[in-house]
Amino acid sequence: MKAVIAGVTGAVGSAIGRQLTRNRNIPVVGLARNPPSGPIRGIDYVQIDMAEASACARILQAHRDTTHLFYCGRATHQEQVLEDVASNLLLLENLLNVLEGASLSHVHLVQGGKVYGVHIGPFPSPAKEDDPRAPIENFNYDQEDLLRARSQSGHWSWSASRPNTLLHFSPAIARNLVSSLGTYAALCKELGAAFDFPGPQAAYHSLTQVTSIELLAEAMDWMTSDSGCANQAFNITNGDAFRWSQVWPRIADFFDMPCGSVRPMRLAEVMSGRELLWQKIVAREGLQPLCLSRIVNWGYLDATLERTWDELLCTNKTRRFGFHGWADSQELMLALFAQYREARILP
Ligand SMILES: NC(=O)c1ccc[n+]([C@@H]2O[C@H](COP(=O)([O-])OP(=O)(O)OC[C@H]3O[C@@H](n4cnc5c(N)ncnc54)[C@H](OP(=O)(O)O)[C@@H]3O)[C@@H](O)[C@H]2O)c1
Repeated sequence: MKAVIAGVTGAVGSAIGRQLTRNRNIPVVGLARNPPSGPIRGIDYVQIDMAEASACARILQAHRDTTHLFYCGRATHQEQVLEDVASNLLLLENLLNVLEGASLSHVHLVQGGKVYGVHIGPFPSPAKEDDPRAPIENFNYDQEDLLRARSQSGHWSWSASRPNTLLHFSPAIARNLVSSLGTYAALCKELGAAFDFPGPQAAYHSLTQVTSIELLAEAMDWMTSDSGCANQAFNITNGDAFRWSQVWPRIADFFDMPCGSVRPMRLAEVMSGRELLWQKIVAREGLQPLCLSRIVNWGYLDATLERTWDELLCTNKTRRFGFHGWADSQELMLALFAQYREARILP
């Protein structure tokens, strides 16, 4: 067995890298355009632009003995706009064109709740894997269709994971719910403001689900090694659900500040000029000298907190096929805040 992780420096790619190097004694190759910020133990990093067909053909020749492709790539995108279909499809297609051969036995595709349109508006919830597609442009559909069509040859199988919003400790990734929320809390506290919920009232009370990234990586490992999962997609969440109204006061407590009220505002606008204030906090608290753009993505936080609809993915199929992992979402979120504090990234 030899694994290639496409997008090895991303949130999901890093997590499956940790999972494979911890638990499987196999060669692992990781692809991305920019080198990892630190060493990634046990992974052979290969610098490549997957959008360049000729570069893929040239550089990946040496890896045509790959048996498992974990596709965790994602074309560069803006928040709150639909992600581009063509550029995302191209990345996967270029890899398949080179790696599809005698050795390839399985391709795993990371999708997400966006398959059900969680980012667009209310959807049939809890969503099931075989629910009808939403009538929107969605690169997840095109990538899945590509795998369905190309695997018809019968030489290899595919699987797909569908996590919802991910919870993770990723110091080098600003598009992160935990570090973004924690930075928002710290800035509010510094301003003498309470910890107000910036989304609409209905979003404070709707039901939502998140996915531990380590749980997702375990599930991806399971899907790619259990032949019963061949050619199937699976929802992967922590298994519980929560309302922001339940967790918001706990976050305020963590940062030792008063819990505020629902005060809808666009953080991408309100927080855009807070770099100097953040650097004041950094200096006083002895935090790592990181600028806001390294630890927070305001547009992503706005998009996550503005969903006035329930956002639930049914995980019955996943359990029926044999994966029973779970996590306590609220406890995990608090543990991750503590990890960011311990790492001197959040106060
Ligand atoms: N993050 C979440 O909360 C979340 C939640 C649910 C589902 N998902 C799904 O999980 C999948 C992975 O998302 P992610 O958030 O982990 O992505 P990400 O953090 O943005 O990582 C993307 C990875 O792809 C690499 N990449 C992008 N363009 C490339 C190119 N042209 N050539 C080579 N490498 C390239 C990036 O490295 P370089 O930029 O250095 O090339 C990076 O390693 C997506 O399908 C996403 O929808 C994510």
